[in-house]
Amino acid sequence: MLDTKAIAHTAPLIYLEEVDSTNNIAADLGRQGAVPFTVVMAERQTAGRGRHGRVWRTFPYQSLAMSIVIPAVDSTLPLVACLSLYQACHDLGIQNIALKWPNDLMFGSRKLAGVLTESYPLSNSTGRFYVLGCGINVNTPEDEDVPEVAGTLAMAVGRPLAREEVAKAFLVRLQKNCTTLEKHGFAPFLTEYQQACITLGKPVVWKEGGREVSGIARDLNADGSILLETPAGMHTCHSGEMIIEH
Ligand code: BTN
Repeated sequence: MLDTKAIAHTAPLIYLEEVDSTNNIAADLGRQGAVPFTVVMAERQTAGRGRHGRVWRTFPYQSLAMSIVIPAVDSTLPLVACLSLYQACHDLGIQNIALKWPNDLMFGSRKLAGVLTESYPLSNSTGRFYVLGCGINVNTPEDEDVPEVAGTLAMAVGRPLAREEVAKAFLVRLQKNCTTLEKHGFAPFLTEYQQACITLGKPVVWKEGGREVSGIARDLNADGSILLETPAGMHTCHSGEMIIEH
């Protein structure tokens, strides 16, 4: 069980045992005009989805699967969300972590958390809203096979963590950062993201819509895109998948 009161979230928080995907529930609530920052959490997802059509596995009672309804603020929201998680981990004393562009939280080569942002039309206006889906591996399940590439916050900090404290720290950072993002755009986050980002300076392969470009990730631009140095010149990557070559 999750003690939702301990999370002390300032908007509605709905906690369910099993759903198809928390993003679907949050999208329905968003269409019905949910209060901004309404959160949906679940222990089990029968159709949890990751980026690029992948399946996302949630470990009941050990990980966090949550989706947040957010007004359309800025296209860099996924990066800011991941930075919020990074900051929240630091708030909890988890230091040796990094960001992999655009929105993975890493412990060495192991993925600790990922963010899937989806945008939906509002039902009674021309505007849109976001559903920010966040999957966080908090504690390491003892009885289940954890994929080799997956890590947990507990591994990174060397002790189990209360999921409530992780959710609370993340939601506090996220809400504060969304206010800043709405007022000032991505600029206030640029330097911290650059410093936390393990992708920069590395040889990478960028993939999007059947295209592949190899190069060195040289910089993060003010709009959140990555500047790739390739044999054919500089290439700007706005979205897609970035694989770090080792
Ligand atoms: C990724 O591929 O890295 C993103 C993973 C996002 C998973 C979360 S878990 C909560 C929410 N519900 C989903 O179906 N997906 C997101």
